[in-house]
Amino acid sequence: MRTENAPVIRLEDYRPTDFLIDKVSLDVVLEPTATRVTAVLAVRGNPAGRPGSPLVLQGDELKLLAISLDGERLAPNRYKADPQGLAIEAPLPEAFTLTIETEINPSANTKLMGLYRSSGIYCTQCEAEGFRRITYFLDRPDVLSVYTTRIEAARDDAPLLLANGNLIERGEIAGTNRHFAVWHDPFPKPSYLFALVGGRLDTLAETFITASGREVEVAIHVEAGKRDRAAYALDALKRSMRWDERVFGREYDLDVFNVVAVSDFNMGAMENKGLNVFNDKYVLASSDTATDADYAGIETVIAHEYFHNWTGNRITCRDWFQLCLKEGLTVFRDQEFSSDERSRPVKRIADVRGLRRQQFAEDSGPLAHPVRPRSYREINNFYTATVYEKGAEIVRMLRVLIGADAFRRGMDLYFAHFDGTAATIEDFLGCFAEASGRDLTHFAQWYEQAGTPVVTAAGHYDPAARSFRLDLTQKTPPTPGQAEKQPMVIPIALGLIGESGRELTLTTAEGNLIENGLFVLDGASASITFTGVDERPVPSLLRGFSAPVKLETDLAEADLFVLFRHDSDGFNQWQASQTLATRFILEAVRGARDDVDARFTEALVHFLDQRAESDPAFAAQVLALPSEADIAREIGRDIDPAAIFDAHMMVKSRIGAALGERLEALYAKLHSSAPYSPDAASAGRRALRNAALSLIAAGDPAAGEKLAGTQFKDADNMTERFGALAVLALIPGSGREEALAAFAARYRDDPLVLDKWFALQASIPEAETLERIKDLMRHPAFSMGNPNRVRALLGSFAMTNATQFNRPDGKGYDLIAETVITLDRRNPQIAARLLTAFRTWRMLEAGRREKAEAALRQVAASPSLSPDVADIAGRSLQ
Ligand code: PHE
Ligand code: ZN
Repeated sequence: MRTENAPVIRLEDYRPTDFLIDKVSLDVVLEPTATRVTAVLAVRGNPAGRPGSPLVLQGDELKLLAISLDGERLAPNRYKADPQGLAIEAPLPEAFTLTIETEINPSANTKLMGLYRSSGIYCTQCEAEGFRRITYFLDRPDVLSVYTTRIEAARDDAPLLLANGNLIERGEIAGTNRHFAVWHDPFPKPSYLFALVGGRLDTLAETFITASGREVEVAIHVEAGKRDRAAYALDALKRSMRWDERVFGREYDLDVFNVVAVSDFNMGAMENKGLNVFNDKYVLASSDTATDADYAGIETVIAHEYFHNWTGNRITCRDWFQLCLKEGLTVFRDQEFSSDERSRPVKRIADVRGLRRQQFAEDSGPLAHPVRPRSYREINNFYTATVYEKGAEIVRMLRVLIGADAFRRGMDLYFAHFDGTAATIEDFLGCFAEASGRDLTHFAQWYEQAGTPVVTAAGHYDPAARSFRLDLTQKTPPTPGQAEKQPMVIPIALGLIGESGRELTLTTAEGNLIENGLFVLDGASASITFTGVDERPVPSLLRGFSAPVKLETDLAEADLFVLFRHDSDGFNQWQASQTLATRFILEAVRGARDDVDARFTEALVHFLDQRAESDPAFAAQVLALPSEADIAREIGRDIDPAAIFDAHMMVKSRIGAALGERLEALYAKLHSSAPYSPDAASAGRRALRNAALSLIAAGDPAAGEKLAGTQFKDADNMTERFGALAVLALIPGSGREEALAAFAARYRDDPLVLDKWFALQASIPEAETLERIKDLMRHPAFSMGNPNRVRALLGSFAMTNATQFNRPDGKGYDLIAETVITLDRRNPQIAARLLTAFRTWRMLEAGRREKAEAALRQVAASPSLSPDVADIAGRSLQ
């Protein structure tokens, strides 16, 4: 299908369905290539719909075997069926039972949507529109039904049979090698939350007692032989359940909570009611195979999917335009959980780095869209950083604006009013307006207006009047379909710091102290005058990153040093160090600098003296420079990735050289011979040690290679082993190739670990990398059919290797374009996702821009593209 033909779906066209389906009873007879599904649907007219309508159900690649209405075979002239849909003519009874029998082929399902097999395990993925690949249905989130699922399979093939809800019956089918299980989910849910699993799996299970004393069996099911790698995920799950009780008053509601890990999965994980299905990357961990970052990722994703039980499942979305209602809110909740379990400032820094890298990049290019889009062609393409991460930022701003108490009351109202329903953003905001007594109409613009607002701040100190005036402005650049922008409601958390580092009291000219240091910029510009200011202050603005904006200040370098040294806000202290580094790199790109200011390296040494030992995780964030992509975004146009790389490298190596001895001492001191533990404090020390190693190697490659070589050999955990390998990978020569080969040999049978190996090689910033990737695509462990492999090798290349993806000869673009075209026939979602690597192509310098455009046009012109890829290609070129 070509872009021109895929229909546009618009929010303003929303209308309730003409029918409701109160009950769904599914009988699924699992067979590898011919699975039979019998659906018995209790249908009735929707009072909110149009009476006398035909019943139109969606399908996708379905084969209809039989259909009957109230037990009577339906005459062929009363319905029309094809693989994509089923329509039954009016008139229809007020309420009736529809029985539909379909046949599907899970083994041939390479899109990994609907029912498919992953390493011999039957599993399903129904969000957003996968249920229609199992049976004909009103496959949209505002149709809520109670499901009963009977699964039947060969006992050997699938000893474990799971579906949503509670197990109500199981047994043998006498005289056969087959068995069955019946699951019932009492909570009405939309079809996208349906799931079933059948296979040979190992189980790790425990009992969890909820706050009110109910017993819940929590179980993680993994591929045979990997049970001991599920322990951390199970622990994270129990901690998530406790946290949601404590922080949001939300208890779990079924007798079992099942998590199944599969190795072929399009996304991270899926919150199906009572039966989460996970990409095994976000479940499996052992000290030998997972890095600290992997452990943190598991904790976050386990929590995220669990939290969906209330924000997404008990309260779901009216339509897919409201996707951020569940996703933004649930990301906010998982961020809060991880902050509470680990370090709040470090978590905030990591989240903001991610937001800037993904969401700011998306927001500044042709794929920019509002957190609640107004139209789409392919909903799969809207599971974006904007919907998820910017969506979470909006919830965070809401809490900053109305305060934590009113926020919690608003959440309670939301659960009380909308439990069991399919809700909208208006419903959600209404609860916070009610709880806080505030008008949130203007604030709601955050859901409607795309683009990253730019806030400028300029300060004026008047020593005679002892006053300080802060002038603030905001402006949002145009985005596709939105040329004119309105001012937004921007909460700016701020403080004033004296030269000596003292936090100054905030008194405004009007005499009103700004509550909690919060100023709300809700017009195009505003000024605040602070009085009684005895010394020239340095403003610390946007503390904790209180709004997802780009801040431009008139701060001098000396001011930034004050903030770096003294800011009591951890986020802004880190930000000051990043802003300084960014300035140096930008000057180097312009050719205006070939060294790093000694005051900066001295400040870093001073900082390490103060904080390296007390807060190593935070120190590691300070030592990690802004990325090349961060610098590219600052420059914004005519970008030359090679020049950015050189400047970045220069700054990094100068810092490494200047701090060499201090870093080596730190590196030695941070060594630990205690057995590995993934806890945050130990992880922080390893993070700092690896950050130090990386800088040492930049400053003195020979010294770095030596340390990294030893660390690689001696490491007893993946964080240290891979940290060393990542340093070695940047130093050309036989040492690197030997280490890479040793790593591959050791983890030959471990695809998840080999993904790290693929990703690392794909990110080497050398011209030879292109050939290396082409070789790796022929490696026996690589497969175009597995999304994790594709993301590791090609995704990492396109998204993280700026100089090589953007090779001046265009061959990096060609590789990705060709891969997208091939992959599209197999798995359109993954192909479309890979193509978003071109999202900032218009900001490149002319030569590369031309080559990137040619590659995009090649994709767009390719015959029989999926709607997924056609949509991304079309919008990228618009
Ligand atoms: N809803 C899943 C999540 O939480 C993401 C997902 C979307 C998974 C679509 C599969 C398909 O975040
Ligand atoms: Zn989610």
